[in-house]
Amino acid sequence: MRIRQHEGLTFDDVLLMPHRSPVQSRRDTSTATELVPGISLAIPIISANMDTVTESEMAITMARAGGLGVIHRFMSAERQAAEVRRVKRAENLVVEKPFTVGPDLTVDAARVRMVEWDTGGLLVTDSDNRLLGILTTRDVLFADDGVALVRDLMTPRDRLITAPPGTTLTEARAILHRARVEKLPLIDEEGRVRGLITSKDIVKRQQFPEATKDRKGRLRVAAAVGVKAGEQERAGLLVEAGVDVLVLDIAHGHSDNAIEMTRRLCQEFAAVPLIAGNVATGDGVRDLVEAGATAIKVGVGPGSICVTRVVTGFGVPQLTAIMESAAAAREAGVPIIADGGIRASGDVVKALAAGAQSVMIGSLFAGTRESPGRIVQRHGRRYKVTRGMASLSATMSRQDNADLDWNSIVPEGVEAMVPYRGSVNELLMQLVGGVRSGLSYCGAYTIAELQANAEFIKMSPAGVSESKPHDVELV
Ligand code: XMP
Repeated sequence: MRIRQHEGLTFDDVLLMPHRSPVQSRRDTSTATELVPGISLAIPIISANMDTVTESEMAITMARAGGLGVIHRFMSAERQAAEVRRVKRAENLVVEKPFTVGPDLTVDAARVRMVEWDTGGLLVTDSDNRLLGILTTRDVLFADDGVALVRDLMTPRDRLITAPPGTTLTEARAILHRARVEKLPLIDEEGRVRGLITSKDIVKRQQFPEATKDRKGRLRVAAAVGVKAGEQERAGLLVEAGVDVLVLDIAHGHSDNAIEMTRRLCQEFAAVPLIAGNVATGDGVRDLVEAGATAIKVGVGPGSICVTRVVTGFGVPQLTAIMESAAAAREAGVPIIADGGIRASGDVVKALAAGAQSVMIGSLFAGTRESPGRIVQRHGRRYKVTRGMASLSATMSRQDNADLDWNSIVPEGVEAMVPYRGSVNELLMQLVGGVRSGLSYCGAYTIAELQANAEFIKMSPAGVSESKPHDVELV
């Protein structure tokens, strides 16, 4: 046994010292960062792989805002892959494989496909992929006799505006505008469908210029996998669905299980970056990097819904965990993600200043419209539910735990309610605005400059209370 001589610090133990600043407006600062080597984010914020935080809706909104969502793994592998596909299909430069149906399908069946595939329009093709027409929600809205066929209601080929493969977005925009239509099928000389450009995709590109996208103009998305048997197959389905980054999700990432799984995933899916974690020490970072991880997630027990430290006595206060992990990660040339304990933008700035390239946020986002789950009313106020993934209810609801004895579970998380906060976009605006202000207080234009210039000062308990509103009655 030994005892460390230096204190473990967390966000509330410190402040950043203001520096002389050349920054004239916080708009001049950049929040761009590196998620993993080769993938950058316009904002350093990632939504957590928790079942009350990130499924496709959150992931789409996060990527559009310039961040990223990690789809949680507490569902079947097939459903998780479908969630990934939904994000990858949400936006495109060109839809390479548009949804198609045959002309002899009933309109009722086509309507079901539209809902299932979450699309407002289907291309109608023959068995040789030749375009016969387009069927949109408008065509089927009032078709309620149940017997009509797609061919009866579609807009036929001779009335469609099409363009050849290779049409640029600027050309497509002009064609769509001239014809006042929303969909432009790309057709080769034999009349076969080679792609689709939609007005929605063009508008979205203008609306979200900072979006996190891949080379084909599709939103990026990450997804979590565990270490148990079957998780390699899960990873396979996710990769097939087009996932951009895999996240190895295990509470004690500095374990032989996690190291071995990191090695296996990196070998089998070498082309897909892997974020591994969670760890809280330099040794943890080094072992996972050595096993092949391309970025490391840091945080043992700082989360709002975590009781790991209470139950096991283990953990490292988050600011110290970030500093020690960042030192090891810098040597290895990999980025780290500070995961857990973020309550406000000031915590994000401190985490970045301490060496993280980005932060992961759970419960703060669980209260938003885009998180899974319903709004509940309590005493006239609106809330949503959040829960630790090692909480009793989350553990019991897992498929493979159906026969578990409740008494045998030792929860390391809790279930809680968080105030409903509307769209995550509003929250992101506040967080990113706070980070930009933080950069300017440090005299930094970029996160790298913040890290180079940052100087922390430890606070006394009196300093902590002075840092919050005091001696006033809040309205
Ligand atoms: P915040 O504070 O943003 O933290 O809500 C989110 C992170 O907490 C971790 N997490 C857990 N940790 N027991 C734990 O000890 C749990 O049941 C649990 N569930 C989530 C996780 O790293 C998440 O991103």
